[in-house]
Amino acid sequence: PSETGRVLSIQSHTVQGYVGNKSAIFPLQLLGYDVDPINSVQFSNHTGYPTFKGQVLNGDQLWELIEGLEANNLLFYTHLLTGYIGSVSFLNTVLKVVDKLRSINPGLTYVCDPVLGDEGKLYVPRELVSVYREKVLPVASMLTPNQFEAELLTGLRIVSEQDGREACNTLHSAGPSKVVITSINIDGDLLLLGSHHKDKGQPPVQFRISIPKIPAYFTGTGDLTTALLLGWSNKYPDNLGKAAELSVSSLQALLVRTINDYTRAGHDCRSSSLEIRLIQSQDNIRNPEIKYRAEMY
Ligand code: ATP
Ligand code: PLP
Ligand code: MG
Ligand code: NA
Ligand code: MG
Repeated sequence: PSETGRVLSIQSHTVQGYVGNKSAIFPLQLLGYDVDPINSVQFSNHTGYPTFKGQVLNGDQLWELIEGLEANNLLFYTHLLTGYIGSVSFLNTVLKVVDKLRSINPGLTYVCDPVLGDEGKLYVPRELVSVYREKVLPVASMLTPNQFEAELLTGLRIVSEQDGREACNTLHSAGPSKVVITSINIDGDLLLLGSHHKDKGQPPVQFRISIPKIPAYFTGTGDLTTALLLGWSNKYPDNLGKAAELSVSSLQALLVRTINDYTRAGHDCRSSSLEIRLIQSQDNIRNPEIKYRAEMY
């Protein structure tokens, strides 16, 4: 399917390496989308390195860019994509952006990766959790939390698939009709859970994709996953399972290439976080071979 769109992507920029906008823009462009990036930060490198330098955009500066676009009638978007947001004031301005974009295109799809933390550790100020819960969820179309984020946003503990499915239900009732829990750790392997609430009064369509865990730590994969899910779910609006199969299959091919390249160079993949081989994987993004299947519940 050739369905495309115009995406406003508000995410981090790093000079070196692929996280945030750097890991989202290229794949969306490969899938045929126009992508207009706003860089919420510009850092030398991602924050997993021993040090980083750079600048942080504040909410007023974000709004200034939106005003510049509006003054020239350039605010028509089909999609808004947001990832890591570091402060309540910036998040509140993002909410203003959602309203503004919907006043111009009421059909705007807002894809929100509610980046709060991972593996039990918060990496944003705690006040953001309630802003996401109370103000962002009601306006989000698709939400892509990880296990920890889904727990924070629902107040539920997730230790089983069933818990994950219930968390999806709770998230739907707060707003988004599409929810993908991008990774749940179960017995050392990973599970992606998807849930599409198509009709009010009907239970959501839910599925799982099981993903063998590669013994390495990557950065940028969460941001890439959300970008791919946006790209594919817009092409298959009634088949979130298919969109997730395509997204996971691209991503896993990329991870295998990443591991192989580092290993060939004599690197111990467990010793530090790996930079993903995004550009080298362009064929896997444009034309993924489906190797990971969605199992419907
Ligand atoms: P975010 O941090 O954006 O909220 P997240 O914690 O789910 O989301 P990741 O942990 O990067 O982000 O996982 C995103 C996807 O990347 C998973 O669905 C999984 O397919 C893949 N992935 C990440 N790390 C690995 C790994 N070690 N082995 C296999 N797949 C992985
Ligand atoms: N944005 C910035 C600036 C980062 O430093 C990082 C990770 O270090 C990320 C985003 C996270 O990327 P992901 O969750 O996709 O691995
Ligand atoms: Mg994770
Ligand atoms: Na995620
Ligand atoms: Mg992440």
